[in-house]
Amino acid sequence: MFDTMTLTKIVGGFCGAFLIFLLGGFAAEFIYHEAKSHDGEHHQAYTIDTGADESAEEVVEVAFADVYAVADAGAGERLWRQCQACHKLEDGANGTGPYLLGIVGRDIGVVDGYSYSGDMAGHGDVWSPENLNAFLENPKGYIAGTKMSYKGMPKVEDRANLIAYLDSIAN
Ligand code: HEC
Repeated sequence: MFDTMTLTKIVGGFCGAFLIFLLGGFAAEFIYHEAKSHDGEHHQAYTIDTGADESAEEVVEVAFADVYAVADAGAGERLWRQCQACHKLEDGANGTGPYLLGIVGRDIGVVDGYSYSGDMAGHGDVWSPENLNAFLENPKGYIAGTKMSYKGMPKVEDRANLIAYLDSIAN
């Protein structure tokens, strides 16, 4: 037979479990509403740039600027190895690709004596950190006819670090 103590424990156990269940539900509700109420901020981290709509692109640019602001040139130096087969950081030293000394802020496709693809030579604009970011993420997505056969660097942190390294060499 159950004595009063056992019964109390059983009832207590159920109450405890029910309380945890309630608290869990409450926490889930809370997190859900938090995410909803700060829509833009919370979703930013998950935005994938499909190029499909302008607002998504803007969010990605903001994210790059934030990452670039705290970029680590030292970490970028290690990533430079991915470019070394084709590029040098010495003035005038062209290889498979044009030399990249001073590339941050340089006009696109203007190195003397280097034979660019028509699309890159005729592109115009400047290699701002933002433009380099877009190009390095997906070279052919940024300049369709480029002859740079590099698959792209997927992580925004890596691209920011590498661009910070390239910028640090120029100065
Ligand atoms: C397999 C060879 C290869 C690799 C690897 C490579 N590039 Fe290139 N890169 C090229 C070629 C070729 C061009 C010229 C493209 C054209 O004319 O369309 C180029 C052009 C560029 C340009 C434009 C230069 C200008 O004068 O406007 C930049 C910037 C650049 N590369 C950066 C990089 C970075 C940074 C990396 C490493 C993450 C890299 N590339 C890796 C071959 C390469």
